[in-house]
Amino acid sequence: MIIDNEDSVTGVVLRAMAGGDDVRLREIAASFVRHMHAFAKEVRLTEPEFEAGIGMLNRIGQATNDVHNEGILFSDAIGFSTLVCLMNNGANGNTETAAALLGPFWRMHSPVTPNGGSIVRSPTPGPALFADLQIVDARGKPIEGVEVDVWHSSPVGLYENQDQSQADMNLRGKFTTDAEGHFSFRSVKPAGYPVPTDGPTGDMLRAQNRHPYRPAHVHFLCYKPGFKTLVTQVFVDHDDYLESDVVFGVTRALIGDFKQHDAGTAPAADVGAPWYTLAYRFVMEAGEAKLPHPPIK
Ligand code: BEZ
Ligand code: FE
Repeated sequence: MIIDNEDSVTGVVLRAMAGGDDVRLREIAASFVRHMHAFAKEVRLTEPEFEAGIGMLNRIGQATNDVHNEGILFSDAIGFSTLVCLMNNGANGNTETAAALLGPFWRMHSPVTPNGGSIVRSPTPGPALFADLQIVDARGKPIEGVEVDVWHSSPVGLYENQDQSQADMNLRGKFTTDAEGHFSFRSVKPAGYPVPTDGPTGDMLRAQNRHPYRPAHVHFLCYKPGFKTLVTQVFVDHDDYLESDVVFGVTRALIGDFKQHDAGTAPAADVGAPWYTLAYRFVMEAGEAKLPHPPIK
């Protein structure tokens, strides 16, 4: 294992890494090394640049804790999370509703809420939203008994865990689809928001002259044994940041129809114009149901 020169390093390393019983791990590690070495050669990486890269990796780890996952955020901001998500779901949109990033704000144990119930759990000023959603299988047959977690930001763009003024679990709920595959709830219209920019991901965005905003959206996690768990988001169709989501989460299929109502009788007596309605149909494909690891507690 004596290295002769720059050109012999990659082959020597690959041979050293060729052992181990896990075939898939060998494949991934070898490909990673090949691409990393090729990358360094392509850009002729200097030593100060190498140190800066290692510093960034270290800062990503140091910025990660129980309530913040900088590793996921960085992966999101370079489009890697969306790439992996689309490669692993829905046969590129042909067989199911497109999946989308889980994001860092899903929490387990959202309050169980009856269909039609409200997920506004503390006063949250903003236009009312009435959502009526349906889940069907790949043949269009309604799926009963899907457990659906819903979570979204407030009309000022903050999740409850980021905002002292909101009650615990505000704008979060767990629903179960009825015999027609429907679930429905009342909420307030979410707003877009900036992702956290106080860590190395923020440094990267500033260096690239990128804004840190996500377009307004509602998250859904749909779970039923026998079906592949669907993690997705539906985006507000008239949002200014749809075309430039900082984490590349918007696919065409996920742009919702958030209808604004300026007159008429609202679905609840205490609601005045304007209010919004959202109707959307999700498709779940047969497969394995498994919950993701919660990014925060
Ligand atoms: C979110 O939608 O909650 C999210 C996704 C990626 C980064 C930050 C937030
Ligand atoms: Fe979000």
